[in-house]
Amino acid sequence: MATFASSSSLKQQLIILTFLFAILTTLQSPVNACFTSIFSFGDSITDTGNLLAISRLESRRLPSSAFLPNGRSFFHRPTGRRCDGRLIIDFLAEALGFPFLPPYYGSKNGRSEQFETGVNFAVAAATALNSSFLAGKGIPSPTTNISLQVQVNSFKDLLPSLCSSSSDCKELLRTSLIAMGEIGGNDYNHALRKGLNFEEIRELVPRVVDIIISSINELVDLGAVTFLVPGNFPIGCSPSFLTQFQGSHKDEYDRFGCLTWLNQFSEYHNQLLQNQLEKLRTRRPDINIVYADYYNPTMKLYHSPKRFGFKETLKVCCGSGGPYNYNASISCGYPPLERSCNDPSSYISWDGIHYTEATYKLVANAVFEDLMNYIRSLNREECIPSQT
Ligand SMILES: *[C@@H]1O[C@H](CO)[C@@H](O)[C@H](O)[C@H]1NC(C)=O
Ligand SMILES: *[C@@H]1O[C@H](CO)[C@@H](O)[C@H](O)[C@H]1NC(C)=O
Ligand SMILES: *[C@@H]1O[C@H](CO)[C@@H](O)[C@H](O)[C@H]1NC(C)=O
Repeated sequence: MATFASSSSLKQQLIILTFLFAILTTLQSPVNACFTSIFSFGDSITDTGNLLAISRLESRRLPSSAFLPNGRSFFHRPTGRRCDGRLIIDFLAEALGFPFLPPYYGSKNGRSEQFETGVNFAVAAATALNSSFLAGKGIPSPTTNISLQVQVNSFKDLLPSLCSSSSDCKELLRTSLIAMGEIGGNDYNHALRKGLNFEEIRELVPRVVDIIISSINELVDLGAVTFLVPGNFPIGCSPSFLTQFQGSHKDEYDRFGCLTWLNQFSEYHNQLLQNQLEKLRTRRPDINIVYADYYNPTMKLYHSPKRFGFKETLKVCCGSGGPYNYNASISCGYPPLERSCNDPSSYISWDGIHYTEATYKLVANAVFEDLMNYIRSLNREECIPSQT
């Protein structure tokens, strides 16, 4: 076994140790004056690698996000994100001075130190309602049963390894930002794809919103006070649904080519969610709740695509033919071929369901602005990042 034989190699070791220590202290110092950690829950809109890690761990067929061209624009490799680059949560983490949130699932036990500044529980295909409830309604959860409640329970399991006493844990949560969603989109997506009648799907909305609110309440009980709660995207402009409901009567489309009834459905979910958040604010004035509007900043892109550098609004960048360049039986990444468009940043839609990094960046900017305005309203300017 090698020992520290000469003083010159000892010196080298010391230099290396000092260097490592410097890196560690940098990593461990509070990265942001507002928040010490970010904890995130949701689905593929926010999944930074959970479904991929779970699939590897369980030796299941890898999701299409395991393959290029996913990741091509920023990470230059697939990371499990269903996007050519960064997601909204990545842009928010960056803007707040945090590292990208590591995925929780699939990581080996005893690696919780990497979760000190945050961790992400969002799993692609996850639903807000649990899979047994959805199954009872005839709605399958084919890819994962890690619904919102399961994610929150995972967080509760992890928590003792992040803090040492009840008051320590409360303090950690008090200074954390909780990103609760987007979640619920898949409850509707799965039901719409299954062809459930629209009235039955509408009846899911108050239940989905209730689960989001009760998840927030559970975290409030643990000590969390600051929540960012996203609504749903305008799914009537989603190439997957435009393809599924292709040939609808022309009165059903708005002047941007989106399906009005589906966008109204997203608005209905968003309205109910905001109503319940408002009630929660009234009940708990000590809690900070920022609604993250994904709908309107995205609609703006369909209204004036050129202004934001987009050439294609309803056609998919990483797709395989058809009027919207979307085919439900061929996912982006399967087969692992480079067949995405030349310039993803000129497309709103990445794969027909998810958006390009360019779209996410613009939505994240709008959300970040709202978050900072809220923080200003609390007179906590000191924790607004200086370079935004
Ligand atoms: C699933 O959700 C339903 C409705 O919210 C609830 O009544 C039931 O207890 C849940 N089941 C599990 C296993 O969590
Ligand atoms: C989810 O499914 C796995 C099998 O894939 C099963 O072992 C587990 O118990 C299920 N969990 C829940 C909460 O239903
Ligand atoms: C979608 O892809 C499948 C498999 O390649 C093919 O059989 C089918 O015709 C395609 N559908 C459309 C609408 O192009």
